[in-house]
Amino acid sequence: VARKLLVGGNWKSHGSLKFVKNFANDTLNKIVYDTSKVEIVIAPVSIHLKDAQEHIANNIHISAQNSSAFEDGAYTGEISASQLANFGIGWTILGHSERRHILGESNTFVASKVKIADEYGLNTIACIGETLDQREAGDTIKVCTDQLDAIRAQVDDWSRIVIAYEPVWAIGTGKTATSEQAQEVHEQIRAWLNENISEEAANNTRILYGGSVNAGNADELIQNPDIDGFLVGGASLKPEFESIVKACN
Ligand code: G3H
Repeated sequence: VARKLLVGGNWKSHGSLKFVKNFANDTLNKIVYDTSKVEIVIAPVSIHLKDAQEHIANNIHISAQNSSAFEDGAYTGEISASQLANFGIGWTILGHSERRHILGESNTFVASKVKIADEYGLNTIACIGETLDQREAGDTIKVCTDQLDAIRAQVDDWSRIVIAYEPVWAIGTGKTATSEQAQEVHEQIRAWLNENISEEAANNTRILYGGSVNAGNADELIQNPDIDGFLVGGASLKPEFESIVKACN
C-alpha cells in the first residue's frame, strides 16, 4: 500500500514572528519535493498561526499544537476545534507527551480532544508513546494501545487521524529509537489498527516516528515499511529540516 508520507514540524513553544517569516522564506518555501508523495505539516504556537498562514507556501499545511476538548464556551485559555476550523487551520497535534506528562492530560481527555477535532473536520496527529520506565518494564505496547483504545472509545472514523509514535525517552534527548525498535512498535500499532479499527485503517493510516529525528537518521528510519514519516521537534526549527523531507521524497 502506498501511503503518502508526512513530515511534521512541531515547533513547540519556540519561535518569534521574525523567526516564522525568516524560516518560511529561507528554508520551508525553498524545499523542493514531490507533493504527491510527501505532505509537510508545520505547527507553530497559536499566536503565530496567522503569520504562518501568510508566510509559509500553500503546499505546506499549518497545524495547531493543541485544541480544546470542549465546544466554544467558558473555558479560559482554550482554543476550540471550531475556532481553528473557522480560522482555516486543518490540522491539530493532540496528546503530545509534553501535554500528557507536564500538563497532566489523561488518555480519556486526549481522546475527547480527538473526537471534537474530528467533528469539526480537523486532521489530527495523535501522539502516543512510552516512558523509559514503561519500556524497561516491558509495557511499551500496552501503554501505546491503551492510549489508542481511549481514542477508539470515542472516535469511529479514523480517516483523519495520523498516529505519531514518540517514545518519551527519545524526545529532545538526542537518543533516537533504533530503526528496529521503531519498526517493531510501528508494526504492532498497525496490527492493532487491523484488529480494532479495520483493515482499511491499517492500510491507510500514517504512523509517524518522533524522537530526535534529524538529517543523520531520517534516511535509515524511513526505509522501514511501517514508518510513514516523522514528527520532528528540534530539527524542524533548523535548515536540516529540508534534508529530513528529502529523505522521504
Ligand atoms: O513532536 C516532536 C517530538 O516531541 C520530537 O521532538 O525531535 O526535539 O526530539 P525532538
